[in-house]
Amino acid sequence: MDCFEITGPGRLSGRIQAAGAKNAALPALAATLLSEGTVELRGLPLVRDIRTMARLLEHLGTSVESDGDSVRLTPSGTAVADDADYELVKTMRASILALGPLVARLGHARVSLPGGCAIGVRPIDQHLAGLEALGAEVTLEHGYVTAKADRLVGNRFRFAVPTVTGTENLLMASCLARGTTVLENCAREPEIADLARLLTSMGANIDGAGQDRIEIQGVDRLGSASHRIIADRIEGGTYLVGAAITGGDVTLEHASSADLAPLLEVLEQAGCTVEAEPDQVRVAVDGPLEATSIETSPHPGFPTDLQAQYMALMTQAQGRCSVHETVFENRFQHVPELVRMGAAIEVDGGYAWIEGPSRLSGAHVMATDLRASASLVLAGLVASGTTVVHRIYHLDRGYEGMEEKLRRLGAEVERTSE
Ligand code: EPU
Repeated sequence: MDCFEITGPGRLSGRIQAAGAKNAALPALAATLLSEGTVELRGLPLVRDIRTMARLLEHLGTSVESDGDSVRLTPSGTAVADDADYELVKTMRASILALGPLVARLGHARVSLPGGCAIGVRPIDQHLAGLEALGAEVTLEHGYVTAKADRLVGNRFRFAVPTVTGTENLLMASCLARGTTVLENCAREPEIADLARLLTSMGANIDGAGQDRIEIQGVDRLGSASHRIIADRIEGGTYLVGAAITGGDVTLEHASSADLAPLLEVLEQAGCTVEAEPDQVRVAVDGPLEATSIETSPHPGFPTDLQAQYMALMTQAQGRCSVHETVFENRFQHVPELVRMGAAIEVDGGYAWIEGPSRLSGAHVMATDLRASASLVLAGLVASGTTVVHRIYHLDRGYEGMEEKLRRLGAEVERTSE
């Protein structure tokens, strides 16, 4: 298992490019199952979750030709397998995104239930209720969900909670349903609008993606397309928080400042200088930071995927503030590790109270999930001495070449084997 050794304190400065968005690339890959032709996806992040999804598609009969950050995918049509087994699904919950496309295209699908995960229970009841509303017969047996339908039929479905992959699953499935589907209380994350752009270029008829009501007119078939994935607002946002926590100056290129707005507004309130152009953002700090409370919520609120990184930042701000996590019930696993480095944080239910600034000192810390790991790396950048972040396989799921990007910005980071 690899770990990161970070020598601090350091200061991040310079320019880097955001990678393609992992959480846009995953549904885009799943969407290719709907196509009768070849779909080219460009700008994929070179991270483990993407390789896992590509392996799942190969298992389902898709021919996958990769060339750097581009991939050409040709599903094999009706003869493909319809199952996503536990071994693949357990390493990546996003495998559930195969369910909607498979049942829509083939009339049957069998996907292992994802089970628990480090950040919470994460049920998929809304994915299943939505598919049932489109006429699928859904059964749960032996840890698998099976969905069957001769052809899905358009309907009105209201999500009980806005769910990102739930919205994506239903959006994909309804593209091939007969008639009109209206989805209400949809998640509005930018990755959903990106998926809709891909589906539209494959021939789908979608109105309102990125808003809370999406209307889809089903079509009989979807075909070839070429699509570039949007920039990763979470990966990019992590480096901008890195600029802030180290009193640095980082310009993020190939980024959407509109998609980053919920983070940028808070960074500005906390005392950072933020210069936003449509496709690049600069964050710089030349004075003390002010403790600024946040609450996570679905887009356009503050993203839960930046909560852990932001909490690391608040350990360096002056005063007391709270971080209220409202999306997942167990997303404070970075807290004990930050405390071991010298942070003053108390957790009370969904609230974490942070008192700053704290002098962090390097320590051995354990990564528990993708974004918690990023938070520990950021803390390591500002801590004095050596921080060893163990189990960075979590980071490798979603951050492309993080150590190289950090080194390019002036950090001392080495990847070593334990
Ligand atoms: N929920 C339900 N029922 C469902 C689905 C969701 O109750 O059927 C609840 C969840 O338990 C949670 C809330 O709804 O409390 C929101 O969960 P959501 O379904 O939106 O999460 P997700 O689709 O499983 C995606 C991202 C996550 C990100 C969340 C929230 C992908 C592949 N994953 O997960 O990304 O945290 O949306 O924005 O898009 C990450 O990249 O580190 C990551 C965890």
